[in-house]
Amino acid sequence: MNDMTPVNRKLGTMQDLKISARGVQVYYGDNHAIKDVSVDIAHKTVTAFIGPSGCGKSTFLRCINRMNDTIDVARVEGDILIDGEDIYDPKVDPVQLRAKVGMVFQKPNPFPKSIYDNVAYGPKIHGLARNKAELDEIVEKSLRKAALWNEAKDRLNAPGTGLSGGQQQRLCIARAIATAPEVLLMDEPCSALDPIATAQVEELIDELRQSFSVVIVTHSMQQAARVSQKTAFFHLGNLVEYDDTDKIFTNPQDSRTESYISGRIG
Ligand SMILES: Nc1ncnc2c1ncn2[C@@H]1O[C@H](COP(=O)(O)OP(=O)(O)O)[C@@H](O)[C@H]1O
Ligand SMILES: [Mg+2]
Repeated sequence: MNDMTPVNRKLGTMQDLKISARGVQVYYGDNHAIKDVSVDIAHKTVTAFIGPSGCGKSTFLRCINRMNDTIDVARVEGDILIDGEDIYDPKVDPVQLRAKVGMVFQKPNPFPKSIYDNVAYGPKIHGLARNKAELDEIVEKSLRKAALWNEAKDRLNAPGTGLSGGQQQRLCIARAIATAPEVLLMDEPCSALDPIATAQVEELIDELRQSFSVVIVTHSMQQAARVSQKTAFFHLGNLVEYDDTDKIFTNPQDSRTESYISGRIG
């Protein structure tokens, strides 16, 4: 069959699709925080969520690994598929899901354990290593991927909380990638970091794109422009515009996006 038939072209794009959200609504009690959001997120791409404070960026991000399940008043409706599978299906174990869809938070939150144990924890509970040598290997690989190995290799038994803020955030990234996730969610991962540590984490995000789909919430439009290929602009719980990052910042189609990027709202 000719490769350029419409069907094959469509399948070609389908292969790049990692996350597909359809008609997602989130309510916190009576507060309708996410309003009918549908979006397709590509694999091995950095997707940025931007928009004014309170517009629902973190809420929507938390839908992607069911972290909203942990909030009593939150109610999620609609469909989210990862690799075509409905992550809200009752058969899905949210703990397993969160190993596959890792998360890094605003404030670095290492466990009060050694650097080694912070990274080894996930692989241990998910049975990813058969012995100590394999676990050592996962820890080293994860720390290398998180660009922390050189700084950490001589102090693996020291507490993670003794690292600098930027190092702690890279430790949290190492912890998140140690369970071999496919998607990495980052909620303002640099907002507690100084400019040098921010630059290091941004560089790391660009490298992580080789292996993962990265979805990053950021209040910094400069950061979105630097690190992402796709940008989604949220406003009052609506996904207003979603497109190539270049396009969002140079030629937005919606007047609300334009107002936001030019600093008139937000
Ligand atoms: N844990 C929560 N409990 C109740 N309401 C929440 C909670 N988290 C967020 N909200 C509400 O949901 C809306 C969206 O918030 P959020 O997703 O945190 O926005 P953003 O990340 O864009 O700043 C806001 O009205 C906020 O008050
Ligand atoms: Mg937020």
